[in-house]
Amino acid sequence: MMNFNEDNKALLLIVDDEKSTRDGLRLALEDSFDCYVASDIRQAMNILKSENVDLMLTDLRMGADNGMDLLDQALTLPKPPVTIMMTAYGSVDTAVEAMRRGAWHFVTKPLNIDEVEMLIKRALRGKKQDNKIVKLEQENQLLRKQSGKSPHGLEKLIGNSPAMTNIHQMITQIAPTKATVLIEGESGTGKELVAGAIHAMSGRPTNKLVTVNCAALSPQLLESELFGHEKGAFTGATQRRIGRFEQANGGTIFLDEIGEIDPTTQVKLLRALSEKTIERVGSNTPVKINVRIVTATNKNLRKMVANDEFREDLFFRLNVVKIEMPPLRNRTEDIILLANAFLKEFALENDRPEKPLNDKAAELLQLYTWPGNVRELRTAIEHGVVMSNDTSINEKHLPSFLTKNNSNNQISNTNTPNTKNSLAEQEDFNLSALEKLTIARALQHSGENRTVAADLLGISRRTLQRKLKDLKSQ
Ligand SMILES: Nc1ncnc2c1ncn2[C@@H]1O[C@H](COP(=O)(O)OP(=O)(O)OP(=O)(O)O)[C@@H](O)[C@H]1O
Ligand SMILES: [Mg+2]
Repeated sequence: MMNFNEDNKALLLIVDDEKSTRDGLRLALEDSFDCYVASDIRQAMNILKSENVDLMLTDLRMGADNGMDLLDQALTLPKPPVTIMMTAYGSVDTAVEAMRRGAWHFVTKPLNIDEVEMLIKRALRGKKQDNKIVKLEQENQLLRKQSGKSPHGLEKLIGNSPAMTNIHQMITQIAPTKATVLIEGESGTGKELVAGAIHAMSGRPTNKLVTVNCAALSPQLLESELFGHEKGAFTGATQRRIGRFEQANGGTIFLDEIGEIDPTTQVKLLRALSEKTIERVGSNTPVKINVRIVTATNKNLRKMVANDEFREDLFFRLNVVKIEMPPLRNRTEDIILLANAFLKEFALENDRPEKPLNDKAAELLQLYTWPGNVRELRTAIEHGVVMSNDTSINEKHLPSFLTKNNSNNQISNTNTPNTKNSLAEQEDFNLSALEKLTIARALQHSGENRTVAADLLGISRRTLQRKLKDLKSQ
C-alpha cells in the first residue's frame, strides 16, 4: 500500500553525498512530500528498512558508494521504493543500465527541479496504479481459492510461440512438485515471472515467496540474509535475525542471480539443500526447513562449473529441473502480443486512451533484435504511449534506436563518448516533449484554467506561465 501519513503526503528518500544537493532538494520538495535524506548507502538502507518509503531519489556517484548498489540492495526489501536515479549529463549508458536493474527512471544533473517533481508525481501515480492492480490480483486469488480453483500465475507470462507454450507446459507440470528449479536465460527474458508463476501454481499459494538477489549483497551480508544470525554473531549484529530460508518456511525461496554467490556461501547452501536444515550465523543449532527452492541466472552455470567458478555438487542439486528462457529474438511471434499487452498496461497507468500500433511501428518492433529482451520492449512501448499525440502509435513515437538501423546491441554499444545531444539522440528520451505533453493534458483536464492546471501539475501558476512562454518560443 502507498504509505500516506496524516497529511496524505508520500514519503521520499533523497540520497546524495553532497550536502548542498540534499538540502536543496529537500527544501524544494518538502511542500509536496515528506522527505528523508541520507548521504550514503548505509544510512539510506537504515531508513528504508525502518520507514515505508514510497520513492527514492538517489545520486549515482557518492564517494566510495554507488547508487546502483543502493538500488540493488533496496530491491531486496519486501516493499522496495520506486527509484529515480540522478546521473551526470550524458551518461546514457549508466542511466539505461540503472533502468535495466530496476530503477523507474533517471534524471540528469544539473537538475531542473520542476522536471524532477513532475517525474516523482508520475512515478507515484504509477505506483498507486500498481497497488490497485496488486489488490485486484489478491482479490482474484481469493475468489479463485473460494471457488476451489487453483490460482494461476501463467497469465502474466505472455506468449504463444512454440517456445513459450513449451515453458507454460513445463511450469504447469513441475509447479505442484517439490523439485528444485533452475531458470536460465538472458537478462529481461522473464525469469522472475517464471519463478512467481511456479510459486503461484505450487498449490501452496497462501505460503510465502521470498526473493533474494544474491548479487546485491556482500558475502557476509548474503550469508546472514539467507540463514539469519544470532545476536553478537559479528560486529553490528545487535539482535537475532531470522534469515530468508526460515521466513520462506512452508513456501518458496527464489534465489536470483545464483551465479554470483561466493564459494563460502555455496558450501553453506549445499549443506542446507542436502540436509534440509540451516544454522543461523553464530549458532550451532540446526533449524529444520521445508522450502521449495527456485534459482535463476543469466549466466551459464555449467560453463561456470567447467571453469571452477561454481561448485559442481551444488550445481547438480540446483539443476534438478532446468527451464531455459528463450531470448525474444528467437520468438518474434510473441512481439506483437507482448506489445499490445504493454500498450494496455501503460495506457491505464498514464491515464491515456488505448491506441493501436500502426503497421510501420509494428514492423519495426518485429525487425529489431531486442538485446534487452522483453524488458527492453516494455520500455519502448511505454515510450510510445507517452510520446504519442496521434490516434495511433506510429514509428515516430517509438525510441529512435528502432528507426535508425537494426544492428545488434544498440544499448550495449553506448560506450562511445557522448556528445552534448546524445541523451536525446541515443535514447530519444526527451524530457521537454514529455513536459509539453503533460502540460497540454493538464490544460485540457482543467478546461484551460491555468490555476487548476498548475495545481494538477503540482507547480505554481507562475512556473506554468513561464513554461508556456518557453514552449511557445521553441
Ligand atoms: N512473457 C512475458 N510476458 C509479460 N511480461 C514479461 C514477459 N517476460 C518478461 N516480462 C516483463 O519484462 C520485464 C523483465 O522480466 P524479468 O524481471 O522477469 O526478467 P529477468 O529474466 O528476471 O531479467 P534479469 O536477468 O535482468 O533479472 C518485467 O517487467 C516483466 O514483467
Ligand atoms: Mg530477474
